[in-house]
Amino acid sequence: MDIDWSNLKFEFLPTKSNIRFTCHNNRWDEGKLYNTYDITMSVAANCLHYGQAIFEGMKAFRCKDGKVRVFRPQENAERMRRSAARIMMADFPAEMFLDGVRRVVRDNLEYIPPYGTGGSLYIRPVMFGTTAQIGVNSSVDYTLVIMVVPVGAYYKGGITPVDAMVSDFDRAAPRGTGTIKCAGNYAASLYPGKLAKEAHCPVALFLDPKEREYIDEFGTSNFLAVTKAGQYVTPESESILPSVTNKSLFAIAGDLGMNPVQRPIHVGELADMAEVAACGTAVVLTPVRRIYYGDKVFSYGETIGPKLKALYDHMTGIQYGELPDTRNWLMDI
Ligand code: PLP
Ligand code: COI
Repeated sequence: MDIDWSNLKFEFLPTKSNIRFTCHNNRWDEGKLYNTYDITMSVAANCLHYGQAIFEGMKAFRCKDGKVRVFRPQENAERMRRSAARIMMADFPAEMFLDGVRRVVRDNLEYIPPYGTGGSLYIRPVMFGTTAQIGVNSSVDYTLVIMVVPVGAYYKGGITPVDAMVSDFDRAAPRGTGTIKCAGNYAASLYPGKLAKEAHCPVALFLDPKEREYIDEFGTSNFLAVTKAGQYVTPESESILPSVTNKSLFAIAGDLGMNPVQRPIHVGELADMAEVAACGTAVVLTPVRRIYYGDKVFSYGETIGPKLKALYDHMTGIQYGELPDTRNWLMDI
């Protein structure tokens, strides 16, 4: 193993092991570590045809005191259980998920970027239905894999704001699967994402699919903004993923006196915002420089704004054990 910690990106890199739990008729096994990435399943497996596939994303950090900690894995366990319930997949105990996280991180300690590099170990659980079937029914067999990937500091040489484009497409239907992390949502966002990139916008912003009047979220991250009065605002909607990062930043915003609020945000309000960002596990937050909406352009500055910077620094400070973890967000490994 020979990793250049200074050159890590957010991309697949094999590690020592992944852990797999399998389920038949609602009975889960004890889980086992595997040293291969390959799996064998029927070409008639449900996940391939009918899309019973869900995933999660969280991170383990090598903290300032040398210990390894995972950021809020209980939140991911509960969100994955909600995802499973929505598309009729088998339930599992949160403790099984957390046990899997601990075991796979412990087995891959050498892949956790050292403290000070800004890197972390991205933990990716994925669960899919494997029963061979032709009728459209839920699977009776499932595999839950938890794999890990070392990832680098997202921002090298400073945080550079990116441009975003409001998409003409919808990502999820109003009462569909927008609130869960199922694989199909990401397939649906690929084409709108490509169109945004062709317009030199790394991220696509989706509006509420019902009225197309309110802001929903970006393809792989939540929307948050700081108003000109200094308030943290983030959308309330029936079709967005409840982000663990957003929930955490919301709490930090409260500590920082930013009077955070979750409410519908009309697209016209983009003109009233002082700072805008996309937030998620991979990046914590990415400041948005401009948003293109039809023939309108909203601008938020060429560098990260002061409130976003404070939020980012607090969040990463807690994750790396530089600031006190007053809410018990970190799970020791
Ligand atoms: N929204 C979508 C659609 C996502 O894919 C993600 C990424 O995980 C997020 C928001 C951010 O969620 P979290 O902060 O839990 O990573
Ligand atoms: C995130 O973890 O922030 C993500 O954007 C997940 C994405 C890679 C699907």
